[in-house]
Parts: sequence; C-alpha cells; structure tokens
Amino acid sequence: MKNKSKIKKEYQNKTEEIKRHNILYYDKSRPIISDSEYDVLKRDIIDLENKYSYLKNKNSPSLIVGLKPSKNFLKSKHRVKMLSLSNAFDSEDLKNYEKKIANFLNLKNNDHIEYSVEPKIDGISASLTYKNSNFVLGLSRGDGIEGEIITENLRTIKDIPKTIKDKNFPKDIDIRGEVYIGKEDFEKIKDRFANPRNAASGSLRQKNPNETKKIPLKFIAYTYGFNSEINFKKQSDFLRLLKIWGFNTNRLNKIISGIDNLVQNHKELESKRYDLDFDVDGLVYKINNLDLQKRLGFVANAPRWAIAHKFSADSSFSKILNIEIQIGRTGALTPVAKIKPVNIGGVVVSNATLHNEEEIIRKDIRIGDTVKVERAGDVIPHVLLVDLKKRSIDSKKFSFPINCPSCGSKVIKDFNKISKKYDAVKRCSSEGYKCEKIAIEKIKHFVSKEAFNIEGLGKKVVEKFWELKFIKLPFDIFNLNYKKIETLEGWGELSTDNLKKSIERSKNIELDKFIFSLGIRHIGQENAKLLSQYFLNVKNFIYLTKSFNFNSLSNLDGIGETQINSLKSFFSDKTNLNVVKKLISILNIKSIKQNAKGKLMNKTFMFTGKLLNISRAEAKSLIEENSGKILSNVSKKLNYLVAGEKPTVKKVKQAKELGVKVINQSEWKKLLN
Ligand code: IVH
Repeated sequence: MKNKSKIKKEYQNKTEEIKRHNILYYDKSRPIISDSEYDVLKRDIIDLENKYSYLKNKNSPSLIVGLKPSKNFLKSKHRVKMLSLSNAFDSEDLKNYEKKIANFLNLKNNDHIEYSVEPKIDGISASLTYKNSNFVLGLSRGDGIEGEIITENLRTIKDIPKTIKDKNFPKDIDIRGEVYIGKEDFEKIKDRFANPRNAASGSLRQKNPNETKKIPLKFIAYTYGFNSEINFKKQSDFLRLLKIWGFNTNRLNKIISGIDNLVQNHKELESKRYDLDFDVDGLVYKINNLDLQKRLGFVANAPRWAIAHKFSADSSFSKILNIEIQIGRTGALTPVAKIKPVNIGGVVVSNATLHNEEEIIRKDIRIGDTVKVERAGDVIPHVLLVDLKKRSIDSKKFSFPINCPSCGSKVIKDFNKISKKYDAVKRCSSEGYKCEKIAIEKIKHFVSKEAFNIEGLGKKVVEKFWELKFIKLPFDIFNLNYKKIETLEGWGELSTDNLKKSIERSKNIELDKFIFSLGIRHIGQENAKLLSQYFLNVKNFIYLTKSFNFNSLSNLDGIGETQINSLKSFFSDKTNLNVVKKLISILNIKSIKQNAKGKLMNKTFMFTGKLLNISRAEAKSLIEENSGKILSNVSKKLNYLVAGEKPTVKKVKQAKELGVKVINQSEWKKLLN
C-alpha cells in the first residue's frame, strides 16, 4: 500500500499538471493534449479525492468549474440596468418593508397591496433582446450596467425561443430570467462542478458554444428590461404573456396579499424546497401593480418595489481549529474561525465569522470547540453556538489582540454618538495605507466591480501583486510592468494583454465611482452618488479638498456629521491626498451628465410641514427624477422652500430673510408639470 506522502505527491503532480493545461488552453490558446486526455487527468484527480478524503481542499480542480470560462467576451451596455434585490429574512423584515412601501405611497391601509410571488431560482440571470420577434442579443448580468455578449451560448438553450410567433409580441424588448441546471441533470455532471449554479455559470461562459450545449441548461423568464410596448398593468399579466409568447415561467408563481399569507406560502415552499427540481434560495415578492412600481422606483442598486424573502440557513457542526484575525478595508478586526472543512448545503465551508470580540465572549467560543455553523445563500457563514457537551479540557480561550496584527498600531473602539455606546467592533487605529493589510483591502475595493471594475485583477491577484511589490498604492495599477507579469506562473501573453486592456478601459470612470473607489469611510455607493451630483466634475471635487470646506456639504440631504468628519480625516492624510492627486492626473474622470430633460435642473428644494396625499419620500424622489436637488438646511443655496401643512415657522422666516422663495404644495406641483 502506498503511504500518505506518496499519495499526496501524486495528487499534487496531477493538479499541477491540470493547471498547466488550463493555462495552455484558456490563456495561451495552445493546448498540447486532447480533450479526452484532459478528461482522463481530471477524472484521476477526482478519483484520488474520493478515495482519500484528506486530499480534498478548496482549490481542488474538482471544485473549480469544469472548464475555465473565457475572459474574452465582448461587452454591451444594458439598456435598462440589471438590479439586485434587498433581502428579508422573517416576518418582522416583511412588515417593515410593507410599512415603508405604504408610507412612501401614502397608503392608509396596506391590506390591498398585492404581490407577485415568484420562487427565487439560484441560477444565473440573463437578458435576451428580441427585435422584430427574433432573438438577436443575449447578455449576462455583468456588473448590472454592462454584460457580456453570450448570445451564441444562450442560443443553445432549448427553452429560449429564437423567434416568437405571437403577433402581439413587442417590437423591441429585453426578456430577463434565470439560466439554471435542473437537479436531476446536475447529478450526471456533479463531479465536475461545485454546485448547480456554478455549473450553469461556467457553462454559460464557455468560449465555445458547443461546450455550453453539452450541459443541459434551462431558462425561466420573469421580467423585462427595455420594452417598446408595455400594454399590461400588472406583473402577473406580464408573466401570463410570457407564457403565451413561448417562454417558460415558474409554475409556482402566485399572487398574494397580506404578510401572514406571504409567510404561510414561504413556509410551504421551504418545506418542499428539496423536492423541487431546481435550487431555490427564497421567494421574490414584487408589487404587482406596475403603476405603483413606477412610483416606487429604485434605491442605489435595488428596486423599492421588490424584495427577496430568503429561506432559513443550512447548518452543520464542525470543529474550530484556530481563530484568526481578518483586517478589513476600514481597519475593522474580525475574528474568523478556521474550521474543519464541512459541507453545508452543497458548499464546502472552512471559515466562519465570529463577528467581534463581544460575540466570542457572549457565546464563550474557544479554539478546539465543536460549533454549529450556519450558512444562508451568499451571506458569509457564521458560528451560531458551541456544543458544550463536546468541549474538551484542552480547548483554548482566544485573547483578542490589543495591537493590530498587521502593523502593530493600537486597537481601538469607536464611540457612537447616536447610541452613546462604544462599537462592538475593534479597529486598527492606523486606518490607512500605512497598515499593510488595510492597504491590500483598500486596493481590492478600488478594483472591485462597483468601483473601477478591473477584470483580471481579482482578490488573489491583488494579493500576489502586492507580495511582489507591483502594487503598493492604487495608482501603481496604472503603471504595471506587463512584461514581468507575463512571465509569472499562471500568466501568459493573452491573459496579460486582457488585464492591460481592462486596466486601460477602467481609466474612463464616472465621478461617483471614482469617489466610491477611494474607500472613504461612511461614503458608500449612495453617498458617493450624492456627492458626485453635488460636485458635477472632478475639478469641483478637488477644489473642495483643497479649500477643506467640508462643512458646506452638511446642506446635502444624506450627508451628516459622521460623513463630514470622515471626509475631513481622509483628506487630512498626506498619502490619501497624494493618491487622489496622482489618480486624477492619470484618469479621465467623467463629469456627471445632468438629465437634460429634468425640469428642475439646478434647482434646490427643501420641505417643511405635512404634504397632502404624497409622502416626503416620494416627493423627494420626484424631485431627484427631475434633476432637482434636496437640501436639508435653509441657506442662500436653497431655491425653494416647499411649505406644507403646519410648516416650521422658523424655517419659513429664515427663508424669507434670505430671499428664498417659499411655495405651497400646489405651486410645487406646477413646477413639476
Ligand atoms: S427580478 C430588479 N425575479 O435574483 C429585480 N429576480 O438578487 C431583479 N432571481 O439577479 C430581478 N428569481 O438572478 C427576479 N423571479 C425572479 C427571480 C430573480 C431569481 C435572481 C436574479 C437576480 C437576483 C436578484
């Protein structure tokens, strides 16, 4: 019998070999073995893992998508953005959601809010453009703004009609839905993929559509993007039309009103979720009435008119091997339990967050403990509780570091002025590029999808480039030595060239994404957008950082003391200033295009008192839709103070003194129409 180290060596050799062939095939387009030889190699690896379970690891080729997807798809902008959904986990969340909706819409009674209730299939979303009844373009979601052109791969899916016969089909429409693999079909190919979703994703992004064809993908339609002819009033009407037009819709779609009924339906589906032929991770609730949907509009990346009601998590027991500290971009120190790898709901988990020191103490979690680990969808797995019966005498308490493990700076807790308490989270007091771990995280944030969106510069690559001293500060990204990169293991001419292209492309960036990319604490996507609409161009932005007059921002509805202090502290730091200055000299930062159609362009508004028949939230959203701005203080910058019922006398007086126009609700309405 072979000994353990020999087996390990054999396994290692084979995995190294397959890696080499992956590079030759996908990055260099120069395969030196046939497909069947490749399959044999892969089969060998999987067989070894099945025989000797200690070989299984998270980098195993058996967990990596069968064939690495090509990175070379052309991209195209979505005509209507592809958004994500906010989540609800229990009836409390749902009640809050409905209350918020009812408030926004100024409804007196929420009983009649009707939802289109649809199972949330855990697959890959795709957008299909039909012109004159022909399927002409298929896009992946991408970053929601632009997707990859995967038309040919989508064409191989039987469920996707190539031409629509129905005469009432819109002339120009994007049909959106989920591409997935049925569980039964997945069984046949499960050795090659981590889970059905992974298989669908890998298959969809194959360079060669014939590869896609080999894997039995399905498609279920559920919404539209651009649509030249909306002649229906409800989401449920649209779902019915989809079926008439020849698309598959989910047979479990329903129309439901009332939270109790939603919860009941959720319970029923959850109990039979494992009997369904597709993976579901919850239900999607959409306000059924499209007029209401239109009024509700969007927040940042998700519609107000829909929410996902997730299923409860899967869980499993495992042993804590060690506790490590992870340092985040904002300096937060998060304790993470390294656990013995365990399969939870189809995914191998080896890390589980412990959140913070207080949690460890409260749950009395020790190294060596057997713990219950929970995992829900794409949320990071966390340790739920300790199985005390299984505690051994040599379990070890964890002592939280008093200095940052990366840079040695003191660890501190922030004082929250609102709750008048210290935060539970401890953070590195350096909070900048001086701390190595924070710097790496900052760069990961900088290149992420929502910021510079540099493809080919994933987390692992950032770490590698950091280690090799290729990147220390964000601007180093634009000055990489591609000749050197090409010679690195795992890189080739093609992949280096692709990286170069995506870095060049990223140099054209919108102002809001640029502000967001800087990773200023408390300036998330929403606030970055707000600031960019205020500054309009990078010149104004830079002028402010020089004049340091951040207090002037307090006028903006949404920017408060916390944000202002954070901006001040960020721009007091020399390295940060240097980074921003250098970046500006390298980049082409696009000015904000103001909505030319906006009737309220350049006009600023503030509300006081109660409005009739419309909520504050909807009134604000109407102003923003028409390119106006909302201010939170009366100042010379204010154009209109809209006074509803019982306005604050002081505000009206202030406005009059400053010469600001005070108008009533109907006068405001006239400005809109
Ligand atoms: S509607 C803006 N309907 O869920 C509305 N999405 O987190 C979003 N999904 O990317 C799309 N089933 O991949 C919608 N019946 C359904 C869905 C569904 C699954 C996925 C979709 C989307 C994600 C949003």
